[in-house]
Amino acid sequence: MKQPRNCLDLNRIAGGAGALSALLLVAWMMPAQAQAPAGRDLRLFYSQQCAGCHGVDGAAQNAAGKKLKGQNLTDPVWRKGTSDEAMVKVIQKGIFFGLAMPGYKKELTLSESQRLVAEVIRQSEKGKVIGKD
Ligand code: HEC
Repeated sequence: MKQPRNCLDLNRIAGGAGALSALLLVAWMMPAQAQAPAGRDLRLFYSQQCAGCHGVDGAAQNAAGKKLKGQNLTDPVWRKGTSDEAMVKVIQKGIFFGLAMPGYKKELTLSESQRLVAEVIRQSEKGKVIGKD
C-alpha cells in the first residue's frame, strides 16, 4: 500500500514530541534534584555566613570572634538561658543596627532561621566543625 505523503510528516511530528517530552522530563527533574535534601543546607549557610564571627564550631574562639565578642553558641549555660525565639529574633534583626551582627532577614525566611537555631545552633559542640560531618 502506498503511504500517503503526510505520513512522513506525522512521524516527524511524533519524533519531535518525543524529544520535547524528554526535554520536559529533564526540566522537571532538575529542580527536584536541587531540592532533594530536606530544604536548604543551613549548616553550610552557617559555615559561610556565621563562622567568621562565631567560629567554625560556634564557640567563637577564633580571632574575629574574640575581637567582636561573638557569642559562644555552644555554651550550654547560655543556651539553656535563652529561647529559640530570642535567637531567631537576633538572627533576623541583627545586633546594634547590624553593626555588631548583621540581620539575615533577606537571606533566611523565618522558618529557615528557626531551623538554623534548632538544627544547627542547638546541636553545636565546641571543637566540632559545623557542616563537616
Ligand atoms: C559580624 C560578626 C557576626 C556575624 C557575621 C554573625 N554574628 Fe551572631 N553575634 C555577633 C555578636 C557580636 C553577638 C553578640 C555577642 C554578645 O551577646 O555579646 C552575636 C550574637 C549572636 C547570637 C546570640 C543572641 C542572643 O540571644 O544573645 C546568636 C544566636 C547569633 N549571634 C547567631 C548568629 C548566626 C546564626 C549568624 C549567621 C547567620 C551570625 N550570628 C552571624 C556577631 C556576628
